Amino acid sequence: MVAAAYALPVASAQAPQGEASGCVVCHGEAGLQLAKSTHARSGVTCTTCHGGVAEAMDKEQAHGDALRPLSDPLQAVEFCGGCHSDIERMRGFGLRTDQLDLYWSSVHGKRLSETDDAEVATCVDCHGSHGIFRASDPRSPIHKLNQVETCGGCHGDEERMGRYGLRADAPELFRGSVHGRALLEEGRLSSPACTDCHGSHGATPPRVEQVGDVCGQCHTTVQEQFERSPHRAAALAGSMEECVGCHGNHAISEPSANMLLVDRGGTCGLCHSDPNDPGRAVATEMHGVMARLDQEILETEESLRDAASKGLFLEREHGYLDEARGLRVRASSLTHAASQGVLSDLEQRCRAMIAQTREGIAGKRRALRDRKIFTGIFFFVVLLFVGVTLVYRREVYGRRGGAGTVGATEAANADEEDAG
Ligand code: HEC
Ligand code: HEC
Ligand code: HEC
Ligand code: HEC
Ligand code: HEC
Ligand code: HEC
Ligand code: HEC
Ligand code: HEC
Ligand code: HEC
Repeated sequence: MVAAAYALPVASAQAPQGEASGCVVCHGEAGLQLAKSTHARSGVTCTTCHGGVAEAMDKEQAHGDALRPLSDPLQAVEFCGGCHSDIERMRGFGLRTDQLDLYWSSVHGKRLSETDDAEVATCVDCHGSHGIFRASDPRSPIHKLNQVETCGGCHGDEERMGRYGLRADAPELFRGSVHGRALLEEGRLSSPACTDCHGSHGATPPRVEQVGDVCGQCHTTVQEQFERSPHRAAALAGSMEECVGCHGNHAISEPSANMLLVDRGGTCGLCHSDPNDPGRAVATEMHGVMARLDQEILETEESLRDAASKGLFLEREHGYLDEARGLRVRASSLTHAASQGVLSDLEQRCRAMIAQTREGIAGKRRALRDRKIFTGIFFFVVLLFVGVTLVYRREVYGRRGGAGTVGATEAANADEEDAG
């Protein structure tokens, strides 16, 4: 039935509808939008979607009596989705044809189909109606950089979300998170936007057992370590959530060694509060290692800065310290294995790099000191030489008595007085 609804206009869409189309004479803005859109390239025109008579210049004639306004969300979804799930129609465009099926399985689609509640996202809410672009096009409402606005238009609206018992803080929290800042402030498209975690047409909160996979798409090393940990089994058994259990979902912040504390608000302590819990020993051991490395890296950074301010050239030492920082990040990934001794190898290598940095700095400081001593001696010798020369000149010129300078004359006079 849906198929029949758009099959007819698709055929009549072959009619030319450029400048001559009456529709755009009266609906200029829609015409401009459509002309820029991805649909314009594939022969989708006003009448393909709305019906009507393209050539007519009179409104009544143009609209005819079967104009489809598509202002009803359910009708629009079936119409867009109908063409997009038509394998014949989509052949040659390299597009998937499962958007409609997926949409009906999503929280959005289910609500629309079951209750006809149009407060949910439809094709048009996410993609627009006339100005439709590829998701990779920055003009698209669901381009990664625009999702917080698009999804947030509803998901940041407390009143609307309250009706469904949902929180409305996802956009705000996401904006302030490591991911949000990397994406929106630094423009790093490798960082996730809403649909990287939730999917697009099947938009749904990832279920507990899927979260790890969602985060693991990008954080593969961490994911591998997590799979080895006792928490993997705990998550499967439903006694904790995978990544979200420790990092949260929308408000993920920079992790630090403090998370490994079993007291003072540390994350490990939240679940391992019983003093006899074996998790506490592991957490404490890991915290010791990580906090020590942080401290040593920090101190070494300070002494690098101090040395640099004294004019030392420290390129190699900066390189060593960068390597130490890299090893520290790898150790951070390894903490996810949550078992005794996993950090010892990396800890040693990291400390070796720190030691190498420090030796380098110390060596250059020694060289600087030696240079200073040498320069001191050099100037002393030069001064001595100059002094001796002056005394010598005075002696020699003084005896000869006839000098051209005032100083020498005075000296000569003094000599005469002495003699007299
Ligand atoms: C002579 C001017 C004119 C022409 C030609 C014209 N329209 Fe319209 N159209 C209007 C006006 C005015 C409205 C405002 C609503 C109304 O009065 O029906 C409108 C409304 C619409 C609406 C919204 C209807 C609703 O119920 O919300 C659609 C969709 C539409 N036109 C599509 C088209 C298409 C497609 C064509 C070409 C086949 C076209 N129009 C040609 C003047 C025109
Ligand atoms: C891909 C399908 C599609 C095409 C092609 C299309 N429209 Fe629409 N149009 C829609 C949908 C869907 C809506 C309803 C939008 C909404 O509810 O926000 C709409 C709404 C409208 C409206 C009423 C609301 C408004 O934006 O003013 C007019 C008028 C209109 N279209 C005219 C046109 C004209 C003229 C063209 C050709 C230049 C055109 N449309 C091409 C899908 C289409
Ligand atoms: C008559 C069939 C038809 C209808 C109706 C239709 N589309 Fe399309 N759509 C296409 C075709 C064909 C393409 C491929 C265009 C191209 O790549 O040149 C396309 C492209 C797209 C794209 C870009 C896909 C990409 O990433 O390349 C989106 C998004 C899209 N359509 C959404 C919609 C929405 C939303 C509606 C309803 C308002 C709709 N379409 C209605 C046929 C249709
Ligand atoms: C909740 C927002 C949302 C809704 C609702 C939505 N889409 Fe999308 N759509 C996206 C996002 C995000 C992408 C890009 C990522 C992807 O391909 O999954 C996309 C991609 C697409 C593409 C390109 C797919 C490809 O193979 O490149 C088409 C076509 C499309 N959507 C059509 C539709 C149609 C038709 C509907 C309605 C049945 C719809 N979308 C509903 C967000 C949405
Ligand atoms: C037009 C408003 C609107 C837009 C735009 C919208 N949503 Fe929704 N969304 C809703 C409503 C309303 C619900 C609640 C439906 C229900 O509970 O039945 C919902 C539900 C959800 C849920 C399920 C929440 C839960 O726990 O049940 C997720 C996840 C979601 N949306 C993600 C997204 C993402 C991601 C985007 C952007 C790509 C988006 N939404 C865009 C209105 C919207
Ligand atoms: C890094 C992944 C990630 C990103 C990015 C993300 N979410 Fe979520 N979101 C989740 C996870 C995981 C859950 C489920 C939490 C749980 O089960 O405890 C969730 C839950 C939700 C829920 C339902 C539960 C609730 O408490 O409201 C909505 C709605 C939602 N997200 C919307 C959004 C929107 C809108 C964006 C973009 C601004 C977004 N999310 C970005 C991972 C993400
Ligand atoms: C689309 C890829 C992607 C997805 C999905 C993703 N992330 Fe990220 N994540 C990133 C990028 C990119 C960064 C920024 C890294 C940086 O700042 O160097 C990041 C940063 C982080 C950080 C901070 C790392 C640091 O050293 O500051 C944590 C923690 C994190 N993500 C956890 C998660 C969790 C938990 C999930 C799932 C709920 C998740 N990520 C989903 C790409 C992703
Ligand atoms: C048991 C708690 C816990 C769980 C579960 C957990 N993390 Fe972590 N995560 C941490 C701690 C603690 C750190 C920081 C350790 C440090 O650097 O001192 C961290 C650091 C990170 C980092 C930054 C280091 C890096 O390798 O870039 C990322 C990214 C990250 N976690 C992602 C994830 C992902 C993805 C998952 C799920 C597969 C996950 N975490 C599960 C506790 C956890
Ligand atoms: C959200 C709750 C939660 C958090 C946070 C958490 N754990 Fe766990 N942990 C569990 C659960 C549940 C188990 C499995 C049940 C058990 O044996 O206690 C477990 C088991 C363990 C075990 C195995 C214990 C054994 O019996 O052999 C270790 C080790 C461990 N966790 C270390 C950590 C470390 C280190 C942290 C902080 C980075 C941490 N956990 C944070 C819930 C958590």
